[in-house]
Amino acid sequence: MSVTTAPASTAPTTHLPATLPARVLGWGMFVPERVVTNHDLEQTLDTSDEWIVERSGIRERHRVGPDDSTASMAIEAGRAALDKARVPASRVDLLVLATTTPDQVTPATAATVQHALGTRGAAFDLNAACSGFVHAFHVAAACLRTPGIDHVLVIGADRFACYADPAERTTAVLFGDGAGALLLGAGSDDPAGPGLIGVDLGGDGSAVSCLEVPPDQPYLVMDGREVFRRATRGIVESCTAALERAGATAADVDVFVPHQANLRIIEAAANRVGVPMDRVVVDIDRYGNTSSASIPIAISEAARDGRIKPGSIVLACGIGAGMSWASALFRWGA
Ligand code: ACO
Repeated sequence: MSVTTAPASTAPTTHLPATLPARVLGWGMFVPERVVTNHDLEQTLDTSDEWIVERSGIRERHRVGPDDSTASMAIEAGRAALDKARVPASRVDLLVLATTTPDQVTPATAATVQHALGTRGAAFDLNAACSGFVHAFHVAAACLRTPGIDHVLVIGADRFACYADPAERTTAVLFGDGAGALLLGAGSDDPAGPGLIGVDLGGDGSAVSCLEVPPDQPYLVMDGREVFRRATRGIVESCTAALERAGATAADVDVFVPHQANLRIIEAAANRVGVPMDRVVVDIDRYGNTSSASIPIAISEAARDGRIKPGSIVLACGIGAGMSWASALFRWGA
C-alpha cells in the first residue's frame, strides 16, 4: 500500500495552545522477524488473499517466535526510542507500558522492561486494549506536570495473535504482534510549543461481550460486524470530541493516526471526521492489528519518514475491547 507524504505544517499553529506541554524526544518500534502472509494462512484456513485484502486491507503480519515476548518487544522499541532521543535510560522517571498481553499476571511486564533498559522510578502496565497507547500517552503527559518527573517512556506492546483461534478464519487473519514507543520530555509554557492540545477518553462497558477472551476460554470471541460498526462510530465521535475541546477542526490536522484494525474502518472514519486519506497513516497491510502497539508503530514510521515533523498537528485515536476509546490531538516537537 503506498504511503503519500502529508502536507505537514512548517510553522507552529499558535491558535491551538497545548494544555499539557510535552515533547516527543524519541520514537522507536519493533516487530518480530516471522512474517505470516495471507498466502500462508490460505494453507490452513478456508480463506483467500483476495478476501482478506478486500475485507480488511491486511496482506501480512509479524508474529512472535519462541524467543519473543511482550517484554522483549517492548524492550527493543523502548531502547530504540531512547537511542533516537540520545537520552540515557537512567533519566527516565516513569515507564508506562500499554499492553493487553502481559507476560505474567504479576508483576507488571513493565517491571521486566524497566530492569532490562535501566530506567529509574515508577513502571506500570496499563490495559485498555487497542486504545491503551493513547490512554498511556495522556497519562504520561499529565505525569510530566508532577515535580520530579521529567522523562516518561510510553510503550505499547502486544502479542495478541496467540489469542485468535488459528482454526477460526474470522479472527485468525486479523492480528499481528509488535511494539512501539515514544520518549516524552517536559514541555515549556509556550502555548505554541509541543504538547497535548485536546483529548477525549471514554468507554462503554455494556459492550464487553462484543470482543472478549472469556475467563474460561483460550481464544477471542468477537462479533465482527458489531465491532466494525461501533469502532467506526466510536472513532468519529471521539475524534470530533477531541477536536471540539481543542477548538480545532479537521482542517487543522496534518497527520491522522487511527488504530489499525481494518482499512474499511479507517477509510470510513477518516471520511466522516473530514481528514483526507493523504493525511492518514495506514500500515495495516504490513502489520495487521497489533492492538496496543498499532498507534506507536504507525507514529514511529511516520516520524521516520518525515510525514510527522516538528510543528505537525497529529490526531491519534485508538478504540477496542471494552469498548474503550481514546483520542489525542497534539503538536509534535522536540
Ligand atoms: N476468509 C473468507 N471468508 C471469511 C473470512 C475469511 N477470513 N472471515 C469471515 N468470512 C466469511 C464469513 O463466514 C461470512 O460468510 P457467510 O456470508 O457465508 O456467513 C462472510 O465472510 C461475511 O462475514 P462478515 O463477518 O459479514 O464479514 P465482514 O465484511 O464484516 O468482515 C471482519 C469481517 C473483517 C472481521 C470485519 O467485520 C471487521 O474487521 N470487524 C472488526 C473486528 C476487529 O477489528 N476486531 C479487532 C479488535 S477490535 C478493534 O481493534 C477495533
